[in-house]
Amino acid sequence: MPSTSPLNDNFIEIAASALRAGNLVAFPTETVYGLGADATNDTAVAKIFEAKGRPKFNPLIVHFPDMDSVEKVAELSPLANKLAALFWPGPISFVLPRKADAGLSLLVSAGLPSIAARIPAHEGARKLLQTAGIPIAAPSANRSGRISPTTAAHVAADFGEEVAYLLDNGPCAVGVESTVIDLTETKPVVLRPGGITAEQIEAAIGHPVDVASVNEENPKSPGMLLSHYAPQLPIRLNASAAKDGEALLGFGPSSAAAMNLSVRGDLVEAAANLFAYLHDLDDPKWSGIAISPIPEQGLGCAINDRLRRAAAPRP
Ligand code: TXA
Ligand code: MG
Repeated sequence: MPSTSPLNDNFIEIAASALRAGNLVAFPTETVYGLGADATNDTAVAKIFEAKGRPKFNPLIVHFPDMDSVEKVAELSPLANKLAALFWPGPISFVLPRKADAGLSLLVSAGLPSIAARIPAHEGARKLLQTAGIPIAAPSANRSGRISPTTAAHVAADFGEEVAYLLDNGPCAVGVESTVIDLTETKPVVLRPGGITAEQIEAAIGHPVDVASVNEENPKSPGMLLSHYAPQLPIRLNASAAKDGEALLGFGPSSAAAMNLSVRGDLVEAAANLFAYLHDLDDPKWSGIAISPIPEQGLGCAINDRLRRAAAPRP
């Protein structure tokens, strides 16, 4: 298990030094816990792929404390500046043209001429980024293909001493990953639904936004492979009731549910509970996890995206 420490000023200093020295540090954001490394250091970034067991080099989200630090590495169009003013800091990542002299490891872009940038809202994460003084590449802190972590215990269950420090600040408030939006072309495209909803983006830009469909053959974003977020148990979607041996993960009033994402049918509450409840129900005492229908609107789009991947055929 990695060494788990509370997220306070003392451990932020220690973790920031470990990051600058090229080591891995797991830390909370408002979406999920991230597995961080110095984004300017090839060896450090390579350690992320090794620790996660990523089958290939998918590009990583790079985290920054403020706009000045983003502007050093990426081109910001007027639209990018507008969306940044509205949604940063927050649960959204922008795919932007990468500056030639960005100084970031080429591995974070996995060969693409772009980078995915995010300024997280989580206070401790921003303090860590400020203290480290370097951009931090961080995918979700889970082994490749497994359920994303929303608590330090989830992270500790997946990793060992290859992670130098694990900063614990309790459960993540949003609970699903950031929205990934491609801003490299004139038309923005949502590559991954997440913490900022398509409806919020549409209200900001004044017209409907394209959402990339998941295509196993030719994923627009290399990380958009269909099977992902998989628990050990089989997943059955849009279930009205559990079959023999199955655990029902409910949404809305249901007396038969083993666990309920939100009894009052609240999508924000359901997103925050999603990964933790999947972790909890992924127990061999059940034969599978049946999941109640979730409305395809607002944060429900991000929840259903993760659930469809969890239910997809495994490689
Ligand atoms: O909430 C989150 O986004 C978390 C926290 C830690 O920030 N991070 C996260 O990272 O979920 P990861 O690596 O699990 O997912 C990154 C997603 C992948 O789908 C990847 O393909 C896409 O972003 N991505 C990264 N860079 C990209 C790029 N240059 N172009 C297109 N897609 C990119
Ligand atoms: Mg992930």
